[in-house]
Parts: sequence; C-alpha cells; structure tokens
Amino acid sequence: MGEALNGLKRTIMCGELREEHVDSDHIVMGWVQRKRNLGGLTFIDLRDRTGILQVVFGEEINKEAFEKADTVRSEYCISVRGRVVRRESPNNSLPTGMIELKGEEIKILSESETPPIYIKEDLDASENIRLKYRYLDLRRSDMQKRFMIRHKTAKAVRDFMDSQGFLEVETPMLTKSTPEGARDYLVPSRNYPGSFYALPQSPQLFKQLLMVSGFDRYFQIVKCFRDEDLRANRQPEFTQVDIEMSFVEVDDVIDMNEKLIQHVFKQVLDVDIKIPFERIPYRVAMAKYGSDKPELRFGMEIENITDAVKNTEFKVFKDVVENGGTIGAIKAENCADMGRKQIDKLTDFVKGFKAKGLAWIAYKEDEIKSPIAKFLTDEELKAIIHKMDAKVGDLILIVSDVKEKVVLTSLGQLRLHLAKELELLKENKEFRFAWITEFPLVSYNEEEDRWEAEHHPFTSPMDEDIQYLDTDPGRVRAKAYDMVLNGEELGGGSIRIHDSSLQEKMFKVLGFTQEKAWERFGFLLEAFKYGPPPHGGLAFGFDRMVMFLSGTDNIKDVVAFPKNQNALCPMTEAPSNVDEVQLDELGLVINLKGEE
Ligand code: AMO
Ligand code: AMP
Repeated sequence: MGEALNGLKRTIMCGELREEHVDSDHIVMGWVQRKRNLGGLTFIDLRDRTGILQVVFGEEINKEAFEKADTVRSEYCISVRGRVVRRESPNNSLPTGMIELKGEEIKILSESETPPIYIKEDLDASENIRLKYRYLDLRRSDMQKRFMIRHKTAKAVRDFMDSQGFLEVETPMLTKSTPEGARDYLVPSRNYPGSFYALPQSPQLFKQLLMVSGFDRYFQIVKCFRDEDLRANRQPEFTQVDIEMSFVEVDDVIDMNEKLIQHVFKQVLDVDIKIPFERIPYRVAMAKYGSDKPELRFGMEIENITDAVKNTEFKVFKDVVENGGTIGAIKAENCADMGRKQIDKLTDFVKGFKAKGLAWIAYKEDEIKSPIAKFLTDEELKAIIHKMDAKVGDLILIVSDVKEKVVLTSLGQLRLHLAKELELLKENKEFRFAWITEFPLVSYNEEEDRWEAEHHPFTSPMDEDIQYLDTDPGRVRAKAYDMVLNGEELGGGSIRIHDSSLQEKMFKVLGFTQEKAWERFGFLLEAFKYGPPPHGGLAFGFDRMVMFLSGTDNIKDVVAFPKNQNALCPMTEAPSNVDEVQLDELGLVINLKGEE
C-alpha cells in the first residue's frame, strides 16, 4: 500500500541539489536506485529524471525515518524530507556528489516488486524484455537523456521554422494511399463497409495542396506510416519534419534546410556546422562510393581501372571488357599483409552483393603478391598500381562484372565493411554532411517491365533533360536532393511538377493511364487546375536526426514505445485480434489464407 501525498510538495529535483543548498531543508521525490546499510546508517540513492541524490538515514537523525527507510527496496517510489549537508566523503562522479540529504521523514508512496530489468545505464537485457517493460526501460538515465534531446530537437526545429515564417499545419491520418512507394497500413471504414482509409506514408499530397491554398511556407512534425521490412534505422511508424515552400527552386530549399540543420545542431549540441554543404551529383556518388548516401569521413574511393587492363588476356577481365562491363577497385592502405583467410572472408562478403569474385594485389616491399599476377603482364600490373596511386604496404581489391552496378555496390559495401574492420571511424566525432543531387527521375523495374518514379511521381525533371522524357527516360535527371549525414539519408525532397501537361507526360512515362492517374491522385490533379504556385520541399527523418544528436545507431533508442523487428509491440501485444462485434460493425470476416 502506498501513502498519499496529503499536501506534501516537492521543493526541488534530486539532481539539482548542490553545495549552495547546504543547511537548507528540502523535500525530494523519486525512486530507490540502491540501498545500503553501513554501521547504523542507511544510505539510499534516490533517482528522478534529473539525476541521483544520496539520502542518509540514521537513528541519531530521526529514528522513525531510519526504521522506515530500512523497509524500502529497489524501485520503491518515495518522498524524503530532510536537511542538505556537506558529505564527509564526496563522490566526484556525481553532480550531487558534494552533498547529501539527511532524511528526517520518509513516505513510501508506492512499493515495487523486483523489476524484471535492472535500471541502469548500458543495460544489456534482451530487447524483447526491454520492450515488454518499456516503462521501466525508460527509467534508465541514458534513455531519458535521449528523450530530453528529442524534445530539445523538436523545439529547435519549431523555433527556427517559426522564425522563417513557416506555419505548422496538421494533415489527416485517415486518408487515401500516398505515393511514397511502401506498403500502406489500412484502416477499415465502418460507414463504408469494404472501403479503407490508408494511414499516410507522408503528408506529401496535402502539403502540396497547402501550397495551392497559398499557405506559402508549411512545416509539420508528423507521424508517417510505412509497412516495410524493418532495419536498424526504420520503424513502421516514424516521425518526419515535413517542409514545403512556394515560389522556390532547388537552391532555395537547400539553403533553408542547411540553416535549419545548423540551428538545430547549435541549439541541441552547441556544435557549429559549416554551411553550405558539399553537393555531390548522384552519378558521382555512385561512381566513387557505390552509394547514394556516401560515408565521407574516410577516403578509400572506388576507382575505375577498366582502361588499365583493357587489352588483357586474363579471361575474367577480358570477358567483362568485351561485354562492356566495368572493372573497379579500392585501395586499403597498409593492408598488404592481410592474411589469406581474411581476404577469403572479404570475398564472401562481396559475393553477398552479387559480385562473382574478388581479386587482390598486395604491394609489398620486395614483391607484388596477387593470385592474378600470373595472368597479367607487368605493364598491366603497373598500370593498376599507378591508377590506384598505391604505395608499398597497400592492398588493392578488385571486382569486375558486366553490370557496373554490381561492381559499384559491392565495392561500396566492401569499403564500409573494411572501415568497420579497420576501425577507421572509431574515434571520429565529425558530422559530415552532403547533398546528393541530380537523382535519376525514373528507374527501370525489370521484374514489372516498366519505369517507376525514383522519388515520387510529382518530382520535377531538370529543365535541360525534359527533352529526353519521351525517348530516353532513364537519362532524365530530377530536381531532387537528399541530405546525407555520415553515410545515412537524413532527409530528401524535390521541386514538384506544377505544370499539368508535364505531369501528364510524367504519368505516361510511368505507365499510368489518364484514368488510373485520376483514380489515385484526382484531387491533386483537380487542384492543379487552379493556379498552383511553383513549389518544392523536403522531409527529414526526425528520429534519425535525434539518433545522430544523441549518439545512437538504433532508432528504437529514440522512440518511446517502438515496435520490434517484426513490427510488434511486446508491451501492448499489438497487433492483436479484435472482438467479433467490432468485425461485424465493419462488415469484415476474417478468412486467413491457409486456414480451413
Ligand atoms: P522520403 O520517403 O525520402 O521522402 O522520407 C523522408 C525521410 O524520412 C525518413 N524515413 C524513415 N525513418 C524511419 N523509419 C522509416 N521507415 C523511414 N522511412 C523514411 C528518412 C527519409 O530521408 N514526401 C517525401 C519528402 C518530400 O518529397 O518532401 C518523403 O516522404 O530519413
Ligand atoms: P579464376 O580464374 O576464376 O580462379 O580467378 C582468378 C582470380 O580472379 C581469383 O583471385 C578470383 O577471385 C578473381 N576473380 C574471379 N572473378 C572475379 C570477378 N568477377 N572480379 C574480380 N576478380 C575475380
């Protein structure tokens, strides 16, 4: 049984007490982190959101309180009234370590069973247990710190957007399927049995409509829902900082968002971010890093060495050259002594990205060691080493394939893998931003034999490329941009099409009939009949932003009640079955495939 507060008021938070409070009386409330009995004294580490305070009870101080304090256990919720005194043996690792509270009265506000997880930093309990008892997991100070950062980040975003004349406007959660390209979460309608709302994958169409309305500058910190395969940095429901602006071009959007990021990092971390960010065209990012979200904090860039061996007799390379393929390589500095076994592992690694093999050249002091040396002439070997600018001690790793994409992707991934193995970024605290620009407008879906939008169907092509839209759509670049930070996509957006004939052309390329386009996006197309302004915008992954700001690489650390890897909430056990009555009201009958 817990005691009621009965008018008792907290006077200060545990973590706020300092030497300046010595000799004053205070009332604190919180949870018992730890209790120790030492020679007639009972010490309690009392914890609240602000930190830990040592409270001491003794027969001499107050007998009744001393006896009661003896009955408390870990995670009891208590209040203590007492006097702040200087500690005999200060604890320099605690901000409150110079003082302690002499407990004169204690109330047990509620008792606690032994918690299933230990409340401490860097807990290594299984994720499922942590999510099942999330409210306890969230008692840990490292978790609470991240949510303070999340709060601060949201506030910094709002303050900045407000200062720039953006209006925060809410858009519907019960809506129609939006075009971000993941699977929708559907909500059945009771009024229209058999019909469904879709939860928004983003407010994309609504923010464009707000531009048609003349809102001029919109932003929203908003939940988005995507039913996709989850990875370390994805959640089925996640938060975006969603932004749209009227009468702008690419540079305007980029400029605004760099300033936003600069403001946020300054406010939250007191870090000065240099702007403008580097801009890298998509084509260059792919060629150098094999990725459209390049990690730029180390080099090891991919080189195309096809020319160096274009006349080779080595069958593996010759076949590739003859079939118009690519031979690419990266250079691992000071790795010439890497063991055979380790290189075999790297070979298996690139095979995971469809490479057929991995050739290597170890440039040693007295010899060049390589399984392909015997197939290449000295000139060819020298040409490769020259092209790679390799020095004694370096290891060159080569992938060749008729498909350029296989070469770039596998070497790009190998580059990241090696950086991890060689701990190139271990002590690196840098924030390395870049914009990736000039994305292709469409890409070819070979399985479905059709062009699909790389971003979404309302993304504007670059003016100089519109001429290829009919004849060579794969060549058309978009007015689209992604902001990349340390190898992650932090946000992305584009200038939109606001001209209906261009939009029609775009739909045609994507294989939408007029009818289909109107069925899906009719409300937007209709709106665009009434003087839409030129507009564009961007959305940041807010959770990802907070991940960087709080130094975690797990998105679940910055979402209060996240889903696990199987899109399940172990705490509420959602998703779950519903009552027959609810189904009846919705006119639904469950008929799972594979069941009788
Ligand atoms: P996009 O689909 O690129 O663009 O999403 C914008 C940003 O949202 C983050 N993000 C996610 N974060 C966590 N979990 C997920 N499942 C997830 N999916 C995306 C990423 C990404 O960069 N409407 C457009 C924006 C625009 O054109 O203005 C859009 O949604 O950080
Ligand atoms: P092989 O003649 O198949 O034994 O290959 C000789 C060397 O070429 C081995 O070191 C292979 O790993 C390497 N090799 C094979 N296929 C490729 C490829 N697609 N790209 C780069 N190296 C390869």
